[in-house]
Amino acid sequence: MRKLETRTIVVASHNAGKIREIADLIGPFGFSAKSAAELNFEEPEETGTTFEENAAIKALASAKASGLPALSDDSGLVVDALGGDPGVYTANWAETADGTRDFAMAMEKVEKALSDRGAMTPAERSARFVSVLCLAWPDGHTEMFRGEVEGVIAEAPRGDQGFGYDPIFQPAGYETTFGEMSAEEKHGWKPGEPEALSHRARAFKIFVETCLEA
Ligand code: IMP
Repeated sequence: MRKLETRTIVVASHNAGKIREIADLIGPFGFSAKSAAELNFEEPEETGTTFEENAAIKALASAKASGLPALSDDSGLVVDALGGDPGVYTANWAETADGTRDFAMAMEKVEKALSDRGAMTPAERSARFVSVLCLAWPDGHTEMFRGEVEGVIAEAPRGDQGFGYDPIFQPAGYETTFGEMSAEEKHGWKPGEPEALSHRARAFKIFVETCLEA
């Protein structure tokens, strides 16, 4: 496992929600970070069929373009009753004809697919959010960190916090969806805290434990 020696990195993302969460997570570590969006890097095409492949594509593109280590996130919602969909295609389910993203529509698609299958009970609506963080260096070396959080798809979207599919994901053991949680409750995690809740915070904790700590 290669350690990260510098605290100057690129956050290899164009997704404002992810960039915000990663900024919150790296805050306590004194990183100086710019995002691929701020640096006007082109968004690479995500041609992989796994979270790991797509995370590597994004991190390597930013590492090579900047000459700095780059941290990417590839993530998605995996719904058991839908055979794992939308999975790596979670962002694609939100795409509209004019090339923008509509998450209200995407959440309706998930609901329609579940109701078409008669999946109405919580047990039939089990799902997980997955995040794979990839740290890539300009020489092509990569390290991956995977975080998952189990939960259910809520009967209807609730809450307007967070981003993407947060309003329909209710993590196991909670009465609220991610959309109803504060940023701190959903993805907050600081060194020394034993647990993190969100998939992204769980992946980040592994990154810290394996790549930052001596
Ligand atoms: P990608 O990783 O850029 O391919 O896209 C991931 C997709 O999953 C995006 O459409 C996000 O909106 C969605 N997603 C990933 N993480 C979260 C999250 O923490 N909350 C809500 N939606 C998420």
